[in-house]
Amino acid sequence: MKVFKTKKELKTYFEEFRSENSKIGFVPTMGALHKGHLSLLEKSIENNDITIASIFVNPTQFNKKEDLENYPRTLESDLSLLESISCDVVFIPSVNEIYTNTVSSVHFNFDGLETQMEGKYREGHFNGVGTIVKKLFEIILPTNAYFGEKDFQQLQIIRKMVEKTALDVTVVCCATHREANGLAMSSRNARLTTEEKEAATIIYQTLHEVKKKTEHLPLADINKWVIDKFNHEPLFTLEYFTIAEEETLKSITKISPKKNYRAFIAAYAREVRLIDTISLNS
Ligand code: PAF
Repeated sequence: MKVFKTKKELKTYFEEFRSENSKIGFVPTMGALHKGHLSLLEKSIENNDITIASIFVNPTQFNKKEDLENYPRTLESDLSLLESISCDVVFIPSVNEIYTNTVSSVHFNFDGLETQMEGKYREGHFNGVGTIVKKLFEIILPTNAYFGEKDFQQLQIIRKMVEKTALDVTVVCCATHREANGLAMSSRNARLTTEEKEAATIIYQTLHEVKKKTEHLPLADINKWVIDKFNHEPLFTLEYFTIAEEETLKSITKISPKKNYRAFIAAYAREVRLIDTISLNS
């Protein structure tokens, strides 16, 4: 496995692959790798000639300083995991290598996708995500890039960014990996206590129940039911629950048969913030 820290080394290495017209698969990460990341990488390895992972804790997408400081950093075990699944290349740039002297985001217009859900609660977050993913795409020029369904809003935003910038990258959505109790795998789970991890089952259980309830209950009643369920769970605080249309991510009050919808939840255990989503169609 090749490990590069600079854009220059990486670009030189990839020149030979580009001239052979090979397919490059890319999985951007912020490290603290878990089985969810590995499943994205395995998909990339299966469908491309060469697979590259990046590990970069991107400062511009954190709206809280403590969240950036507390983000788990486990580089050594990440590299062993990547080696164990035969990832070909890893890019681990420094903040300076990516941002030079100005650690700031570009301002994007994602046609309103950025003002929904996460965008309301994490100011500037998606400008930070757009900035880093665009920079990484421009350095790596991947054929296919892999993102988890758990971060569905991020996935739609990246698709929009690719559409607007005309970058030649196919964005691939990969199913969420879950713990046995349904908890979506996330690097943030490492910051939960054993009790919180158990209690976190409320997130997926609720989404699952919501999916069934949408078949026979008005959305306003479902909304009340979700709020009440979280009010009875002392270890978790609901930040938002919403049912939104997949394409625009706009919240809806009534389901129409021809569109695709998802339910979304963001909730906190102390300061650890978790999100999850479920498709209401499939
Ligand atoms: O989903 C993540 O881990 C990050 O938002 C990403 C896509 C690696 C950009 O920093």
